[in-house]
Amino acid sequence: MTDALVDVLARRINHEKGDAGVVVVTSRRVARIYGRGFLDPLCRAIGAGKPLALPDGEDRKTWDSATRIFDKLLANRIDRRGWIVAVGGGVVTDMAGFAASVFKRGLQWAAVPTTLTGQVDAALGGKTAVDFGKGKNMVGTFWQPAFVCLAPAFLATLPDRELRCGLSEVVKTGVALSPRLLKRLEDCGEDILAKDHEKLCRIVAECAKLKLVIVAADPLDRGVRAVLNLGHTAGHAIEAAGGFQKWNHGEAVAMGLLVIASLAVECGKMKPEEKRRVYEIVERLGLAPRIRPGPEDAAPFLHLDKKSIGRRIQVIVPGPLGRTTVKTIEPGELLKEQYWSWS
Ligand SMILES: NC(=O)c1ccc[n+]([C@@H]2O[C@H](COP(=O)([O-])OP(=O)(O)OC[C@H]3O[C@@H](n4cnc5c(N)ncnc54)[C@H](O)[C@@H]3O)[C@@H](O)[C@H]2O)c1
Ligand SMILES: [Zn+2]
Repeated sequence: MTDALVDVLARRINHEKGDAGVVVVTSRRVARIYGRGFLDPLCRAIGAGKPLALPDGEDRKTWDSATRIFDKLLANRIDRRGWIVAVGGGVVTDMAGFAASVFKRGLQWAAVPTTLTGQVDAALGGKTAVDFGKGKNMVGTFWQPAFVCLAPAFLATLPDRELRCGLSEVVKTGVALSPRLLKRLEDCGEDILAKDHEKLCRIVAECAKLKLVIVAADPLDRGVRAVLNLGHTAGHAIEAAGGFQKWNHGEAVAMGLLVIASLAVECGKMKPEEKRRVYEIVERLGLAPRIRPGPEDAAPFLHLDKKSIGRRIQVIVPGPLGRTTVKTIEPGELLKEQYWSWS
């Protein structure tokens, strides 16, 4: 990691926070990789003490972890002008943003996402949360960060599977909003998988901009922002069907995207060759696992969808590429055998 990034970031934080206190929140794994080269000099430059390194994993995205952030804020005597800087994946930025939103009724915060999922999705748009009970993101707020620092250089150390997971959200964004982004994935898929820095910078910037236009139009997720859920209705059911182990979020969303694309072809919104294109992109990016679920696996989990209205569910139907429509359907409509044939 370059000193230049520390410099730019520290200058921005110091300029915005003045002499207010600041706490840096990260994860243990990120602290191990980026402690000496990035976190320590950053903390020195902004006058923060040692960073708080929380345990990794979705199963640690808990109220308990949030209270550790509160403890740290109290110990550092952070007052209402104070700041949190979150450096890490979506788990860290979601939790740190949540803590910032409620501590003393709201601190400022900045996000430095270090995963592709974080840079194209999680750290953008101000949704913060911890998991609670059986529900993912059950307790949360909308609380926009003062700024988000997108530095694809962090992705150099990201495991391939995590990178692909983030790419799934890029495919989703392309199918929903931008044929140009899809074309870029087709043209440079291999370079992106090989972590070509310049190509990664391009797709991160392009995808982030597309998301932010939607967020700006609907910051509280009451209307057009639903488009970003494309592929997520079947995707969430697939994720749950695999016990959150067998298929990760990205793989599940990619498969969910193919299911809803099949439905889109059936109802005349998408041409079969457009669906074929999406399928090929998903395959090339390594997002279609060899063992794939069937409708009977997903069925028990479809009604759990947060967007359900009574027994019916609201889905985003893609097509033509770059456009979508909203449709309310019976869960059974997503479960037609031919939508799960993966071709
Ligand atoms: N707020 C939102 O709008 C939104 C959107 C999408 C996802 N999310 C949330 O984001 C979370 C998923 O985020 P994620 O995919 O970033 O997972 P994650 O935060 O669990 O990170 C994955 C793993 O990679 C490690 N890591 C982070 N940066 C690294 C790097 N540069 N090099 C090596 N390892 C690194 C992390 O420590 C972690 O172990 C979920 O909890 C999801 O609910 C939120
Ligand atoms: Zn997602």
